[in-house]
Amino acid sequence: MKTSKIHLVVGLVSILLWVAGDAKAQSKSKPDAFAQNQRLGRGVNILGYDPIWRSREQGRFKVEYFQKLKAAGFNSVRINLHAFRQMDATNSWAIKPSWFEVLDWAVNEAQAQGLAVILDLHEFTPMGNDPSGNKEKFLAFWRRMAAHYQNAPATVFFELLNEPFDKLTPELWNEYFAEALGIIRKTNPTRTVIVGPGQWNQIDRLVELKLPESDRNLIVTVHFYEPFAFTHQGASWTDRKDKLGFDWKGSPEEVAALNRAFDRAQAWSKANKRPLFLGEFGAYDRGPMDSRMHWTAAVARAAESRGWSWAYWQFDSDFILYDVKREAWVEPILNALIPKSPTR
Ligand code: BGC
Repeated sequence: MKTSKIHLVVGLVSILLWVAGDAKAQSKSKPDAFAQNQRLGRGVNILGYDPIWRSREQGRFKVEYFQKLKAAGFNSVRINLHAFRQMDATNSWAIKPSWFEVLDWAVNEAQAQGLAVILDLHEFTPMGNDPSGNKEKFLAFWRRMAAHYQNAPATVFFELLNEPFDKLTPELWNEYFAEALGIIRKTNPTRTVIVGPGQWNQIDRLVELKLPESDRNLIVTVHFYEPFAFTHQGASWTDRKDKLGFDWKGSPEEVAALNRAFDRAQAWSKANKRPLFLGEFGAYDRGPMDSRMHWTAAVARAAESRGWSWAYWQFDSDFILYDVKREAWVEPILNALIPKSPTR
């Protein structure tokens, strides 16, 4: 009787130890989304509109830019992926190996410099115009990406889709992203995934975002381009193309409007216990440089003071941070993003 009791106790204790050990192992392998968000820190959007995807020789982004970014004080890059045209409908939506070669190069070189990497599906236009017509491709993209990067380190993040809009309504987006996340979780149970609200990842649409309660390894992204008349003055792809001459000087009213918007996001983040990533913000090149500088610095500091990570829009092309022709930083923008310190 006595020995069987002892056996029972020993058995129970070992089960308890095993369960505790297993839970510990699991919590070790599943990163904390808030800690992951800190690793993103200060970032920049890269490669979205680079000819490198068509041919390596025509690429504008050079390998040494990863090192320059790191040395300037950046912690991460958000790689904007236009992958749909690289997928083969006749072969279960296989993605071209030449495209993966470019992406692997970028991921490896960024990681070699200690930069975290966000893989951001940037096919928001086809997804917004015809969600159901592109759904299969969208899910296939994530099935293939998830398989390709399943062994990548935790500093590689997946961002499900940039700025859902138009026909991809916030309600529909909740369904679509949940499906994509389910596919990703089969091969990447511990990958940190980034997802944002509908209607251009706007702060005021956070309330409609329905996240799976049990998946805590998510970072939520928002974009900020307010006041739009200022940040998009002269932008040909918007209704502001002929409207110039807007300033942003950081007046108390301007700063208060920025803080009000960010406080709304912060309240959502606190109530839902989800970390926030400001994945895009920037003011287009045709605005006055001193105003762009003030606005960029104010937005970056407003994000940082709330514990958010951020990524500036964008390194090259327009809104630029780095002038590829002159091989030089656009200093006022760089200094606005990363204030000068004794080490820089
Ligand atoms: C788009 C760019 C655009 C930027 C600012 C991005 O998400 O991909 O084409 O310039 O937003 O409007």
